[in-house]
Amino acid sequence: MANKPTALIVLAAGKGKRMQSTIPKVLQKLAGKSMLMHIIDNSFMLNALHTVVVIGKNSDIIKNTIPSYCTTVTQFEQLGTAHAAMQASNILKNFKGNVIILCGDVPFISLNTLKKLLKSNKTYNLSVLGFQTATPKGYGRIILNKSKEVISVIEEKDLRKTDKFTNYLNSGIISGDWGFISKYVKKICSNKQDKEYYLTDIFALAEKDGLPAKMIEGKELELMGVNDKKTLASAESHLQKVLKDKAMRRGVTFINPNSVILSSDTYLGKDVIVEPNVYFGNNVKIRSDVVIKSNSYLEGVIINSGSQIGPYARIRPNTTIGKNVKIGNFVEIKNSKISNHVKVNHLSYIGDAFIGINTNIGAGTITCNYDGYEKHITKIGSDTFIGSNTSLVAPLTIGSGVVIGAGSTITKNVPNNKLAVSREKQFISKNDYKYKKFTKRKKN
Ligand code: UD1
Ligand code: MG
Repeated sequence: MANKPTALIVLAAGKGKRMQSTIPKVLQKLAGKSMLMHIIDNSFMLNALHTVVVIGKNSDIIKNTIPSYCTTVTQFEQLGTAHAAMQASNILKNFKGNVIILCGDVPFISLNTLKKLLKSNKTYNLSVLGFQTATPKGYGRIILNKSKEVISVIEEKDLRKTDKFTNYLNSGIISGDWGFISKYVKKICSNKQDKEYYLTDIFALAEKDGLPAKMIEGKELELMGVNDKKTLASAESHLQKVLKDKAMRRGVTFINPNSVILSSDTYLGKDVIVEPNVYFGNNVKIRSDVVIKSNSYLEGVIINSGSQIGPYARIRPNTTIGKNVKIGNFVEIKNSKISNHVKVNHLSYIGDAFIGINTNIGAGTITCNYDGYEKHITKIGSDTFIGSNTSLVAPLTIGSGVVIGAGSTITKNVPNNKLAVSREKQFISKNDYKYKKFTKRKKN
């Protein structure tokens, strides 16, 4: 029998008060990617028929960050998780199949665990992911019978001394037949204390009708809920470890892994060596045999095999660096293409530029790319030598085989195979001239 179709509802409309931020909770980032996008990406391979994201009013910012195959619905009043889930009813009114309800602040949920949850829907109308932890604060408690079926889920603040002790916590992620879930969610009443409709009340209602849910146990680190900045920091350090372990398994060397920060999409090839204190922002792809020396900051860059970057280099977005290139200390590069065998070894700024094969850029060279109104392009050919401390005033084209004398300010294009120098002639005094400070010191 063919599998039932699946729909996802991601609850992302909560106020997120505990995060103390003007940015919606679900857009807080882990390894450079929002919690919401972690969830959407991790569940992508389920091939869900619908991915419905429930957002709060004034949350257009969320709409702009998610893929177009997701549908957003607005929960105008934040009346709780059950109320949020029901906002998807209109979109799912003709849907027949299993629904997984995900929390936008449980970012590490994996495809495998979701598949296990769906499998349980073959036997049960409703299933929930539970977990155990030594630090249960803030989570709802799952009360089970002997067959690990759920009698109820009690929110922490509603726990009474008389409640049965339980080790299992609610991840907030449930799945089941949509007809069943929507029927029971409609029966949920608002909580007496805070007037919210708790999705967790669905379990007691189902159990009362003799249709208890099944708990599937998952891992604490995968199911952690991120409600505040402290947990966000713990989640970040967990993810960093996962990402670096994965890179090391692929053959990357970190001299001091703890001091390096990766983004979720960082790709590091075989035999890449990463020295301490390197930051990889989003969109960095580094091919094999590259060395990234200490204290470098990279984002939006492709670096090809055999190149060396840093120490103290800053490579900004939209930059491609060729093979066997050397980028040295205190060099900043942005929006540029640097061809194979180029050297930019010290103290330079290269912006909006193209540099041809084998060209050497001397220390302190600056592309003057901004005229106060617009950015302009600098093109430099192959086998060219730019002397130290040169200002290249863009728009500018410098040919191949060119030599630019050190200290020049180049404002006009230079054709192939020419020498260009633009600086005051050197002056030497006719008479001898003694450096007075030196003379004085000699007397002492
Ligand atoms: C919820 C569960 C708790 C569970 C925990 C796991 C309820 C009542 N409690 O608590 O049992 O242990 O998650 O992390 O479900 N949201 C909306 N609209 C709302 C309220 C919330 O969309 O009106 C969204 C939030 O954006 C969030 C998710 O639902 O993504 C969970 O809400 P949150 O307030 O974080 O619930 P918890 O207190 O963490
Ligand atoms: Mg939460």
